[in-house]
Amino acid sequence: MKKVCVIGAGPSGITALKNILDQGLDVTCYDFNSDVGGNWIYNESKSHSSVFETTHIISSKTLSQYEDYTFDDFEKGIPDYPSHDQLRRYFQGYAAHFKLYPKIEFNTLVKSCELNADNTWEVISEKDGVQKTEHFTHLVVCNGHHWLPRFPSYPGEFTGEFLHSHDFKKAAPFKDKRVLVIGGGNSACDVSVETSRVSKKTTISWRRGYRIVPKFLFGKPSDVVASRMAFLPTRLKFFFSELTVKIFSGANKNYGLPEPEHNITGTHPTINEELLYKLRHGKVFPKGDIDHFDGKNVHFKDGSVEEFDTIIACTGYILEHPFFRKDFLNYSEGDVPLYLKMLHEKYENLFFVGMFQPLGCIWPGAELQSKIAARAIKGLWKRPENIATLCQREVTHPHLNQIKTPRHTITVDFHLFVKDLKKHLPKNYVSKSAV
Ligand SMILES: Cc1cc2nc3c(=O)[nH]c(=O)nc-3n(C[C@H](O)[C@H](O)[C@H](O)COP(=O)(O)OP(=O)(O)OC[C@H]3O[C@@H](n4cnc5c(N)ncnc54)[C@H](O)[C@@H]3O)c2cc1C
Ligand SMILES: NC(=O)c1ccc[n+]([C@@H]2O[C@H](COP(=O)([O-])OP(=O)(O)OC[C@H]3O[C@@H](n4cnc5c(N)ncnc54)[C@H](OP(=O)(O)O)[C@@H]3O)[C@@H](O)[C@H]2O)c1
Repeated sequence: MKKVCVIGAGPSGITALKNILDQGLDVTCYDFNSDVGGNWIYNESKSHSSVFETTHIISSKTLSQYEDYTFDDFEKGIPDYPSHDQLRRYFQGYAAHFKLYPKIEFNTLVKSCELNADNTWEVISEKDGVQKTEHFTHLVVCNGHHWLPRFPSYPGEFTGEFLHSHDFKKAAPFKDKRVLVIGGGNSACDVSVETSRVSKKTTISWRRGYRIVPKFLFGKPSDVVASRMAFLPTRLKFFFSELTVKIFSGANKNYGLPEPEHNITGTHPTINEELLYKLRHGKVFPKGDIDHFDGKNVHFKDGSVEEFDTIIACTGYILEHPFFRKDFLNYSEGDVPLYLKMLHEKYENLFFVGMFQPLGCIWPGAELQSKIAARAIKGLWKRPENIATLCQREVTHPHLNQIKTPRHTITVDFHLFVKDLKKHLPKNYVSKSAV
């Protein structure tokens, strides 16, 4: 008798649960939160979530919806770039619509998962201090990958306040402070724009140049404009994307920023409408990489020194599965050889859903992965015999050639990934009604 365990009830976990239920399988989902939504449950206190008071998504609603439950199925009038709260309600609406709540055990932390000799998963969970051990035939991991901070380290000691963007909740506490934001990703650009509204001075430190993509091009969300070029050969597509952004914003030197040395897809895209504006309004000041700390002084590699009250490291997240023994499985560093970013070459009853970083939105891809996983568990989809080769191929033939930094181990091109996944599904894969 098949019995499935899903870890996490965020955007990926709920679609895994829904699609497993669609196949008539016995499934239980665990989440240590008290409701559905994962990263999108904003909380002023320390929590799993990394969103802050003013977060709006960077992938537009057109390309950020489940096919089984679109924004229109949920609520009319959702804007192009919904807020974290609108998304939380959307995910909770999905769970209610598909009657998922009775299958989710909230306030339950999955502490360990061990594969037994009989190929079943022994899952130890904890709720209200009480531990429970259960056995499952299949394990679907949806614990998210933007919750464990990756901190930078520099010589010397900084004696001011030092935090990671995971713990940045709102700008108000930084009123009248001298703030240094580290990083050139979406967190760094969003956070520096927010602190600049109240701080005495906000400075942003980039260790390399990035191309900042505006949220709108020609009056349309940028990802919608980019998707109209999806049919072009990859090189041409990226050439036009790069050119369009350059025409819109001009060269980085106009803003005191270094030029990128990689092409537009060489790093995860930074999408921001306000940073360049703030730089030219003297609200955010650009700086290069940091050399070392000395008390409240920060010494930059260009030889300049500046004093700060607060440093906010927006330096990304570590991919972590604390419920697996490190010698069993560890993707926190290096390559992630999983076929379709989901299937392990050896463990046939293990699935990862949502563990990829698209140039675009995560949950539409997670929805398609879930449908394949559910069909595989049901016995309607067969793993390829050369899966070991295919897993390695994901590492040796990525969709995009990106710079080798820790954040780029699980990147996919949204459109190519969706296309790859759909090849494994029947034509009628959309299923809008609850079972
Ligand atoms: C500020 C910010 C903005 C973002 N904006 C976008 C965007 O615009 N578009 C986009 O596609 N992505 C965005 N992301 C990426 C984000 O990871 C995804 O949007 C999305 O949350 C991924 O869903 P998930 O279900 O995989 O993970 P999560 O949302 O992180 O959910 C994981 C769930 O698993 C639960 N869990 C974890 N470990 C355990 C355990 N051991 N036991 C029980 N439960 C557990 C957690 O409580 C949580 O509910 C953003 C991320 C950040 C930080
Ligand atoms: N509004 C939104 O929707 C929104 C807001 C925030 C985040 N997000 C999403 O959340 C995810 C995480 O984004 P993120 O910006 O937090 O992290 P990220 O994408 O991993 O970016 C981290 C940044 O920090 C830099 N960095 C890392 N280590 C460093 C070090 N030691 N010294 C100096 N710089 C260092 C990286 O440089 P390299 O380029 O060299 O790697 C990169 O610029 C992404 O998917 C992002 O799209 C979305």
